[in-house]
Amino acid sequence: MNVIAFNGSPRKKNWNTVTLLESALKGAAAAGAETELVNLYDLSFSGCISCFSCKKRNRKLDGVCAVNDDLTPVLERVRNADVLIVGTPVYYGAESAATRALLERLLFPYNNYSKDLKSQFPRVISTALIYTMNVGLEDVKNYGYEQHFNLTKTMLDRHFGPCELFLSVDTMQYSDYSKYESEKFDAEAKLKHHKEIFPQECEKAFDMGKRLVTNPA
Ligand SMILES: Cc1cc2nc3c(=O)[nH]c(=O)nc-3n(C[C@H](O)[C@H](O)[C@H](O)COP(=O)(O)O)c2cc1C
Repeated sequence: MNVIAFNGSPRKKNWNTVTLLESALKGAAAAGAETELVNLYDLSFSGCISCFSCKKRNRKLDGVCAVNDDLTPVLERVRNADVLIVGTPVYYGAESAATRALLERLLFPYNNYSKDLKSQFPRVISTALIYTMNVGLEDVKNYGYEQHFNLTKTMLDRHFGPCELFLSVDTMQYSDYSKYESEKFDAEAKLKHHKEIFPQECEKAFDMGKRLVTNPA
């Protein structure tokens, strides 16, 4: 079983999103899967360029994006994946720009414009979306983030298969709050949360990775 995960944070070592993704992949590996982590910010690629090659009537293959850049071989590997995990920090209430670009390129070629609307992805696979964010759970609701997360979740549900939503709130943005403007944050509480709650979230991510492999879609 192949599990592919995408890190949509430009911070690639020890930070929130990548740490949760690595935990999920460790769980998947513990259940016997082959795993791969793709750091989107290592790649040079664009979002969808609206060329509509993937919708041409005489196309040779379904679900293939015609844009040729660093994402091309990675999208090919997703075709063979059994589990897909996308992790992103929340930027302005949504995914990071690179994650958004990935989603456009990943989803649109499988988006069927014919009447039956059935996804062009050849199989049904398990998927997960991991969001990490500065705000607490209450503000996820107050600011309407939840609606956006659920919309993206529905896109993954429809194009690939059942999507598990994983939220990590109240994350630590810097390891030393005294070095940055951060008066509106309670630095001590942030650090405490990171030391006490975040490791529990990593355990939950591990369990999720394991579950995605042991209970395939
Ligand atoms: C450009 C930018 C925009 C952000 N916007 C939000 C936001 O709208 N809501 C929020 O809760 N956190 C926001 N954050 C904080 C990050 O989502 C949060 O710190 C996240 O956990 C960082 O993930 P990382 O440690 O994997 O990079 C923003 C951070 C940056 C750099």
